[in-house]
Amino acid sequence: MIIDNIEKLLKDGAQRAGYASENLSISFSALPDLCDFQCNGCFSLAKQSKENPYDVAVKIVKEIENNNICTFEVARPAFINIKMTDKGFEDLAKNLFEDERCGVPKHKVKQRVLLDYGGANVAKELHVGHLRPAIIGESLKRLYKFMGEEVISDVHLGDWGLQMGLNELQLYEDGNLDYYFGKSKEKKEITLDMLNKAYPQASARSKEDEEFKKKAEEWTKFIQDKKEPYFSIYQEIRRVSVVKIKENYNALGTQFDLWNGESDCMDYVEDAIKQITDKGLARESEGALIVDVANEKDNKPMPPAIIKKHNGAVLYATTDIATIYMRNKLYDLDRIEYVTDQRQNLHFEQVFRVCKMSGISPEKQQLVHIGHGTMNGKDGKPFKTRSGGTLKLEDIINMLIEKASAKLESNGVEYDRALALKIGVGAMKFGDLSNNVAKDYVFDLDKFLSFEGKSGPYLQYTVCRINSLLAKTSEEEKCFAIFNDEQKEILNKILKLNSSYEICYKERSLNNLALATYDVASAFSTFYNNHKILTETNKEKKASFVNLLKIVRKALVQALGVLAIEVPEKM
Ligand code: ARG
Repeated sequence: MIIDNIEKLLKDGAQRAGYASENLSISFSALPDLCDFQCNGCFSLAKQSKENPYDVAVKIVKEIENNNICTFEVARPAFINIKMTDKGFEDLAKNLFEDERCGVPKHKVKQRVLLDYGGANVAKELHVGHLRPAIIGESLKRLYKFMGEEVISDVHLGDWGLQMGLNELQLYEDGNLDYYFGKSKEKKEITLDMLNKAYPQASARSKEDEEFKKKAEEWTKFIQDKKEPYFSIYQEIRRVSVVKIKENYNALGTQFDLWNGESDCMDYVEDAIKQITDKGLARESEGALIVDVANEKDNKPMPPAIIKKHNGAVLYATTDIATIYMRNKLYDLDRIEYVTDQRQNLHFEQVFRVCKMSGISPEKQQLVHIGHGTMNGKDGKPFKTRSGGTLKLEDIINMLIEKASAKLESNGVEYDRALALKIGVGAMKFGDLSNNVAKDYVFDLDKFLSFEGKSGPYLQYTVCRINSLLAKTSEEEKCFAIFNDEQKEILNKILKLNSSYEICYKERSLNNLALATYDVASAFSTFYNNHKILTETNKEKKASFVNLLKIVRKALVQALGVLAIEVPEKM
C-alpha cells in the first residue's frame, strides 16, 4: 500500500545516503493543506551521525527525488514533507478498489481472545448499565475478528449471586412457589411479570429486614448446593429470564458465542480454591477465606479479595476466578478481556492479581479490564427514569424506535418498525462509540438522530445514497484518474480511516474509527455536491468517479460493519 511504498522509498534513500534507516517512518501530515505525510526521523539520524539534521534531510531527499508517486520537500528545522502526486493518488485508488479489505492490513500473528461483555443478570431485567458493554463489546469483538484474531464471546450471565435467593424467597412469600414446596397440586408458571415485581421488592426489603436478608442468603446457599426444590426453581427462573435477555440483545444486534453464566464455573470452584490455598495464598478471616492482593511495589490501597463467605457461599470474585480457571482448562487463550463499568475496576484488579499469583492465569496470558464511563442525562448525572429509577434497556430501545419513527415521519417516510429500530440503534451506537470508552457522555437522542453531522443516521444515509447512485449506472471501465482535489481528499480520508483500526485496537476504544468514518462520508458529500457524476459526459471522468463511489462504499460498509451499525436498504 501507498504508505508502505513511500516508507520504503525513504528507507532505501536513507540507506543509500549512508544512514541506518530501519526506524524511519512517516505519519499523516500535521498541516494537511501543505502536504499529505511527513517524516520526522532526520533528527535522530543526525544525532547518531553528529550532523546538522537539515543536511541529513536534504541528503536523503536527493536520493529519492526521482519517483512518480510523491514529491519530497525539506522544511526547517528538518522535516521531510511528502505530497502525493496525481499518479500516486491514482495508484492508491486502484489499490483500494482491488483490495477486498480496501487496504486495511490484517495482523500477522493470530491471537486467541475470550471477550466477556454481556453481564446481564438473571431475574433482573437488563437496564441502562448493560447498554454500553453490549455496544462496545460487540464492536471490539468485530474489530478483533477483522484484524484476524480468533474471538470467543461470552455473555457471562449474572446467575449465581444473592439476587437468586432474594428472588426465590420473594416469589415464595408471594405464594407463587406453592407447587414446588408441596403446598399445592397446581403448578403456577413462573412469568417475567412475577420476576419483574419480585426483585425490586426483595432487594428493597433486604435493606431493612435483616431476618429476610439472612434467609435469602441461606436460600442462595441452597441453590449453590443444588438442593431441591431450590435448584429446580432457580433453573426455571433462569430459563424464563434468558428468553427476555436474548430478545433485548437481539434488538441491539449483540451476539454471543457462549451463553454461559457465573453458575457454569461451579464444577471448577473447589479446584481453583485448592490451587490458591496450595500456594499458601489464602487465609481465614472472621470465618471467610481471603487472599491478600496488595503488594509493596505500588502504593495502591488494595483490600484483600474474599473468595468464600463465612457460610461457605461463593461471591462475585470467586465466580470470576473460577471462570478464568475453567476457561483456561477449556481453551488456549492469549487474552481474556472484560467490558464493564469502570466502577468494577477494583474487582477486576483483585481477581487478576489472585489469578496471576496462583498461576490460574499463565504468565504470558493478558487479562484486560476495559472499564467504560457512564451514560449521563442532560443534567450531567447518570441517566435515569423521570422518577429517578433505573431505566430498563427495553424502555431505551422503545424510545429509540419511537424517536426514529417520528424523525422518519417528518421526512415523509411511512411507519416501519424494523427500519426505525435500525436507525435508532445505529444512532445510539454512533453516539456511544464516537466517545472514548473511558469517558462519560450525554445521552442526547435528538443529537444522535440528526441526519446531518456526526451521527449514525448520516453514515447510514450516505451509504444508501451511494447505493442508489450506483444502481443507476453500469459503468465498468477501470479508470482511476484524478481530476479534482475532492477526489484526493476522499482518498486521504480513507487512508486515515484505514490507520484508525490499529489505533482503536491498541486503545480498545472505537472513537477514532467512528470519527474517521464520518470524515470519509463528509469528504464524499463535498465531492458529491461539487461534481456531477451520473450525467458526466467525459467517459474517463465518469468511470473514475463511479469507481471512487465504489471505493467509498466499500470503506464505509466495512467500517460500519466493525461498528456494528446496520445499513438499511432505503431511508
Ligand atoms: N453481572 C455483572 C453486572 O451486572 C457484570 C458481569 C461482568 N462480567 C464478569 N465476568 N464479571 O454488574
